[in-house]
Amino acid sequence: MKHTSINIPVQIFPDFKSLDAADAVLMEAAKNATLHAYAPYSNFRVGAAIRLSNGNILTGSNQENASFPAGICAERVVLSAASASFPDVEMTGLALTYINETGAGNRPISPCGICRQTLAEYEQRFGKPIRLILGGMSGEVFIISRATDLLPFAFSSRELRPL
Ligand code: THU
Repeated sequence: MKHTSINIPVQIFPDFKSLDAADAVLMEAAKNATLHAYAPYSNFRVGAAIRLSNGNILTGSNQENASFPAGICAERVVLSAASASFPDVEMTGLALTYINETGAGNRPISPCGICRQTLAEYEQRFGKPIRLILGGMSGEVFIISRATDLLPFAFSSRELRPL
């Protein structure tokens, strides 16, 4: 028997002003996307923005439903849109932010478990890390250089196929 541990590298930026220019642009797009959230049930408005390797930036927001489980998170909205419109273009980064019921949010949000699984799928599909830029409307920003760092021991297609 042996012991091991898993380390998740996170860069913590004190505020939006200290981000790299490209990350700041992506986060700004995510902030704008919160305005398009459809969240009448939770009043928790999430914005996500994806950068593609061809330079395009796509945005998404959470879309809720009276049948609650039919709702979809902002991350999966934009991941699906990117994959559907640009199936052969790598996704290189995803920024995420939110407005909560008090009107802001000054702590970083991070993707839910289902979204982590979806992010892992696209990282594996393209063989390219998806950089996560996680924020609120202000305050610290966490940067995680590959999405699968948030999902150790992820289930993947490797297990579906016999070697
Ligand atoms: N939500 C997201 O869109 N992304 C996350 O990372 C966390 C949660 C949405 C789902 C639901 O519409 C609302 O936020 C409250 O959970």
